[in-house]
Amino acid sequence: MKLSVKLGLWIFICILLIETVSMIFLHNNVVRSRIDQELNSLKARGNSHRDVLEMAFNDSTLQHIRLMEAHTDTFVVVANSAGEVLLTSKEINEGMKKILDQSSSQLPRQGVILQSEWKEEAYIATVTPYETGTDKGSVYMFRDTENVKAFVSQLNRHFMLASIWILSFMFITIFLLTKVLTRPLIIMKEATRKLSKGDFSVSVPVQSHDELGELAQSIQTLANDLNYMKQERNDFLASISHELRTPLTYIKGYADIARRTNIRPQERTHYLQIIGEESERVNRLLEELFSLARIDQNEFLITKERVQLFPFLHSIYERVLPAFLTKNIELQLDSDQDIFVDIDPSRFGQVLSNILDNALKYSNEGTTTTIRAIKRDRNVVISIQDQGIGIPEEDIPYVFERLYRVEKSRARITGGFGLGLAIAKQLVEIHGGSLSVKSKPGAGTVFTIVLKES
Ligand SMILES: Nc1ncnc2c1ncn2[C@@H]1O[C@H](COP(=O)(O)OP(=O)(O)OP(=O)(O)O)[C@@H](O)[C@H]1O
Ligand SMILES: [Mg+2]
Repeated sequence: MKLSVKLGLWIFICILLIETVSMIFLHNNVVRSRIDQELNSLKARGNSHRDVLEMAFNDSTLQHIRLMEAHTDTFVVVANSAGEVLLTSKEINEGMKKILDQSSSQLPRQGVILQSEWKEEAYIATVTPYETGTDKGSVYMFRDTENVKAFVSQLNRHFMLASIWILSFMFITIFLLTKVLTRPLIIMKEATRKLSKGDFSVSVPVQSHDELGELAQSIQTLANDLNYMKQERNDFLASISHELRTPLTYIKGYADIARRTNIRPQERTHYLQIIGEESERVNRLLEELFSLARIDQNEFLITKERVQLFPFLHSIYERVLPAFLTKNIELQLDSDQDIFVDIDPSRFGQVLSNILDNALKYSNEGTTTTIRAIKRDRNVVISIQDQGIGIPEEDIPYVFERLYRVEKSRARITGGFGLGLAIAKQLVEIHGGSLSVKSKPGAGTVFTIVLKES
């Protein structure tokens, strides 16, 4: 069953129940109060006849009472203590006689109700006792129930009409309400269906600030993320195939040449050497891609230990120093002694090597590269600053992306794939830290790692 139908049905049943119960309650109350009113007025009329009788009990008073009742819808019967009827304003019929017979002698002065069953009986009736100096008796008052019945049936018609109005109004309201309530859900259902089919270009309008609005917002965010990931994956695959194509073209070209019979052995050796180097390059690319994929899948477990930073940095410093000296670049290390961090030494060493490798590759002779480590608040800040060529501002947002290089043409000279920083960033992040860069073309670059202090 459709959600809108289900929702509509539930609202309908609930309102119908509430309406029926309150209608019945209201109807009964109106009828009861009308009957009470009729009975009370009947009794009051009887009492007032009694008062007149007690003031002057004679024929003319009785005549007077008869006259008073002649043109009303009420009837009066006055009977003495012996049960003799002294006065009647209407001929006593069977219905009235039945009521007269059940009267008792001990009556309260303000009178009692003898018959209130308006539904089954032809009359409602009251009785009031009177007492003169000579005799006692009763004043019976009757009223035809036809009037009340007519009133009730008119009331029923009104109620029926009101119910029809309310029901039709309810139908329209529920119809519109369920449409309004379920519309965003239907849009979202459609959107998720599209998403599951791989179409990420969905747009889910956020129409409200309630839970439905939040859900719409989440679906939109999910769609955008998926779209971005799809785009990224396509770009990445395009870059990889490009990266692989270049060395493979070299390998094929040089293999063709090396296969020729008319070349000198030295030449052949040279070409075979290039083939070897290019194969090595492809191998390295695949290995690095593989390790990135493993980090992505969280298979890359790191085993952290508490490490004193200065000796750790110093060992790395010593390892890379010869390369810097060969290129005539000064390398400085400046760190406090009492800094401790929780790191996986070999993985974190790879982070620093990747960044230092860049400093070396992208700096000219006679410059200085500085490794610094300081404590700030409860963090440890490690920075590697070079005085190299710098990174153009428009490239900075992308340097941590896979296979991104500022100068693609220099790749063959520097031998990079554009993976070093992507790997470094991932590794810093699985250590719970952050890696950022600031750079100025011509002036130099500084990479900053922030870690929690141990
Ligand atoms: N210290 C730096 N100075 C100037 N440019 C830099 C520096 N570090 C990185 N870059 C730029 O950012 C790009 C990405 O760096 P990354 O280390 O990811 O790749 P790579 O060094 O080219 O190759 P790989 O590290 O995979 O061998 C580099 O190609 C370079 O253009
Ligand atoms: Mg690099």
